[in-house]
Amino acid sequence: MADYDFDVLVIGSGPGGYVAAIRAAQLGLKTACAESRETLGGTCLNVGCIPSKALLNASEKYEEVHSGLLAKYGVKAENVSLDLDAMHGQRIEAVKGLTGGIEFLFKKNKVEWLKGRASFESADTVKVADRTVRAKNIIIATGSSVTPLPGVAIDQKVVVDSTGALELPRVPGHLVVIGGGVIGLELGSVWGRLGARVTVVEYLDQLLPGMDGDVRKEAAKLFKKQGMELRLSTKVTGVTVNGDKATLTIEPSAGGAAETLEADVVLVSIGRRPNTDGLALDKAGLATNARGQIEVDDELATAVKGIWAIGDVTPGPMLAHKAEDEGIAVAENIAGLTGIVNHDVIPSVVYTHPEIAAVGLTEEQAKEKVGEIKVGKFPMLANSRAKTIGEKDGFVKVIADAKTDRVLGVHIIAVPAGTMIAQAAQAMEFGATSEDIAYTCHAHPTHSEAVKEAAMAVRDKPIHI
Ligand code: FAD
Ligand code: NAI
Repeated sequence: MADYDFDVLVIGSGPGGYVAAIRAAQLGLKTACAESRETLGGTCLNVGCIPSKALLNASEKYEEVHSGLLAKYGVKAENVSLDLDAMHGQRIEAVKGLTGGIEFLFKKNKVEWLKGRASFESADTVKVADRTVRAKNIIIATGSSVTPLPGVAIDQKVVVDSTGALELPRVPGHLVVIGGGVIGLELGSVWGRLGARVTVVEYLDQLLPGMDGDVRKEAAKLFKKQGMELRLSTKVTGVTVNGDKATLTIEPSAGGAAETLEADVVLVSIGRRPNTDGLALDKAGLATNARGQIEVDDELATAVKGIWAIGDVTPGPMLAHKAEDEGIAVAENIAGLTGIVNHDVIPSVVYTHPEIAAVGLTEEQAKEKVGEIKVGKFPMLANSRAKTIGEKDGFVKVIADAKTDRVLGVHIIAVPAGTMIAQAAQAMEFGATSEDIAYTCHAHPTHSEAVKEAAMAVRDKPIHI
């Protein structure tokens, strides 16, 4: 290693960075990870996946009791009330436990945490706070931050981003969500369940861009049924804050008469953008593409030898598991092994109730890319387990190549869709046909039987409908 301080320096300790650092250390490489936050774990563990899922789960429990749903099952509860401080307490505990866990894993694997912001001095030298280190390999895993809405200032009180929306000190009377994507629907669902009136303002004519058309339509129907007000094809042209209230000016996306909406809290969730500010990429000889991302090849190498990039800062879906898998692959590539991520099979899950999950091509994409396709659909209302527990919303949709029968995409709306999608991803990774899924024995009674029946519907007929 001659005059290098480290074999590998990872910048950023999110799911991409911390996994890359641990894997590199496991492979015998002397590894450090620079992180400017007070705690390790990045967006996902600190202000993303983990705290949001802690609140989603807690708010579901509250709603089950409060709405009288549990009473239907013979579980009676009286004087139900919300202790929001306790709910936030368990969220904070979940984050503390997991971020502390990464610190423990760093120590266990001898990954050195360099505390502070990192910026390049040259292609192999990085300054972190007041220390300058040289590394043979540098992995950029700096993640992403909230995309701001021009002219709308986030104050984290009345106008919040996802971080503020996780920490609201009281349930807002009216929450207006700008952007009907994943964050808007997940966090809108949390506060809706806890009693807020929720209005989602979405620029496009449907929620959840990028998802399968049938799924987007069905999701909109379900969210409306749950009481969410949807203002589709609508744009926000201004937000003014007066004390503890906000007034939004909205108009049709295509132009037309403006109107106003009053809100107690406005959540801006119109997407996220890669973090490269302050990295001094130019000193390393690197540049970003038009979308601000760092381009990489199949091995996750950038245009500069010895510099690699993974996760939200690179093209592709901004998902924790994509970042994690890239973290493992990049460390293996640096160690001289063969690290591969199959970017065609990355599942995505929206953790609403029911959950919405997808892997592979949508029907629209499959028609465009493959041409002749076959589609099998099975409704959850015909699935015995869904019926038994009284949660019958949703469906499973399997899309296959008409010529080869190979599965191209699977889309699910069901209470445990996030768990069910794993079998679809595995089947696709193994190059399965719809017949393979249809003839795989599935345990009864499980929600997963709906995947089998949707696969049967691709080729012929399912049994239970
Ligand atoms: P990040 O997790 O963003 O980590 C990057 C880290 O780098 C940060 O800690 C940052 O402080 C640090 N950093 C940046 N620049 C520097 C620098 N110059 N020097 C030192 N450190 C630096 N994804 C899912 O798959 N499932 C979910 O359920 C899910 N829920 C989410 C909920 C919310 C509210 C949000 C906002 C996101 C959610 N995501 C979810 C997305 C997920 O959080 C990201 O895809 C994931 O965190 C990306 O990982 P990463 O390692 O690329 O970057
Ligand atoms: P998103 O890209 O999912 O949704 C943004 C929405 O805002 C889109 O529907 C878009 O059409 C709309 N929009 C954009 N500009 C607008 C405007 N001016 N007015 C009204 N609507 C507008 O982004 P989101 O929800 O902010 O999430 C960011 C990222 O975080 C996502 O890419 C997602 O991958 C990740 N994430 C993943 C989660 C999961 O896996 N469960 C949970 C939360 C976030």
